[in-house]
Amino acid sequence: AVREKKKFIDHERIASYAFAFDIDGVLVRGPETIPQAPEALRMLNGENKYNIKVPYIFITNGGGRSEKARCKDLSKRLGITVTEDQVIQGHTPMKDLVPVYENVLVVGGVLDSCRKVAEGYGFKNVYIPLDIMKWNPSVTPYYQLSEEEKRIARDVDFSKVKIDAILVFADSRNWAADQQIILELLLSENGVMGTICPTADKGPGLYFAHSDFVWATDYGLNRYGMGALQVSIAALYQEHTGKELEVTRFGKPQRGTFRFAEKVLSNWRRETLSEHVEQLKLEDCPDGAGRLHNERDDSPLVSDSSDDDEEQMPNDPFGEKGITLERGSKMILELPPASTVYFVGDTPESDIRFANSHDSSWYSILVKTGVYQDGATPRYKPKQICDNVLEAVKFAIEREH
Ligand code: G3P
Ligand code: MG
Repeated sequence: AVREKKKFIDHERIASYAFAFDIDGVLVRGPETIPQAPEALRMLNGENKYNIKVPYIFITNGGGRSEKARCKDLSKRLGITVTEDQVIQGHTPMKDLVPVYENVLVVGGVLDSCRKVAEGYGFKNVYIPLDIMKWNPSVTPYYQLSEEEKRIARDVDFSKVKIDAILVFADSRNWAADQQIILELLLSENGVMGTICPTADKGPGLYFAHSDFVWATDYGLNRYGMGALQVSIAALYQEHTGKELEVTRFGKPQRGTFRFAEKVLSNWRRETLSEHVEQLKLEDCPDGAGRLHNERDDSPLVSDSSDDDEEQMPNDPFGEKGITLERGSKMILELPPASTVYFVGDTPESDIRFANSHDSSWYSILVKTGVYQDGATPRYKPKQICDNVLEAVKFAIEREH
């Protein structure tokens, strides 16, 4: 084959491995940003001695606001640009429930922030506990709505509404009122407030955005998360019915979340690579086909011999298939999975279990800046323990090169 002499994609500039980050306890602690986090992400954006860009995404059990709002906050706090395509929150995959349920009660978060997220996902009728408390303040005898809550709550007659599903999107800010309402609906006739089903088997479905029993905030000790609320609700349900509560869980370490994350990571890697390619001068070759060039062995990744009925698959900058180009400079990137996905987390029960359970190409790294404290024996064994996220990134890059 005539050896192409043009400068093309220097595929070594985009790593074949990738990262996924937990957020709370790894990059932030409540309102505080973990000091090493900005430098760690700049390293992956190319500020490293190998001059390589490493694709990464964020997988948090947190939520309560839109992915867009979360990106804006992360971008500001980390000093980088984070886009919605890179962020998965606990409730993000709950979008799949939109076609399943018409009337949903969304629980958690501040005021009506979760209602706005759920409506942004496309749910048709979204109610929140404040609406129920406005409809009948006696539902929660010890809590009266503030003026602001009365203003944002909607006027609904819940004696005429059938709640099809209860979606706990974010941590409850009012365990007493939220549990009172959730239990009443679970024990109701078809999700109608003010009714009781003797067999307690006609209530709405109950979904949780995650199951973290505790999480790391700016307080010295861990705080209860949505997993603790689940324990409390299950105990109350058991007390009423003698039966075990059935719930559907999202978030880490669930398999569904892992599959969702793999899809997000794959799309993001393709996005990163095609952006990189667009930044390079791709000169059209004589036959009008774009070409790739392997810096290392200097041979074209794609044969240019015109008698091939189909282009040879390029050799493997990203694994067995590598990257192919369509004729001309229009590009279709066929990208094999990342060679390794380094997942950095602070909670063994969610993060490390998540990374260890579903695919051996995921490499779990536990940091000491969140729930896990130095010296403890983690219930789920990580492949590596590092002091913080910057050490984790340095460790992984050195391991790869
Ligand atoms: O509420 C969020 C908390 O439970 C943990 O969030 O980012 O550590 O998965 P994250
Ligand atoms: Mg965490």
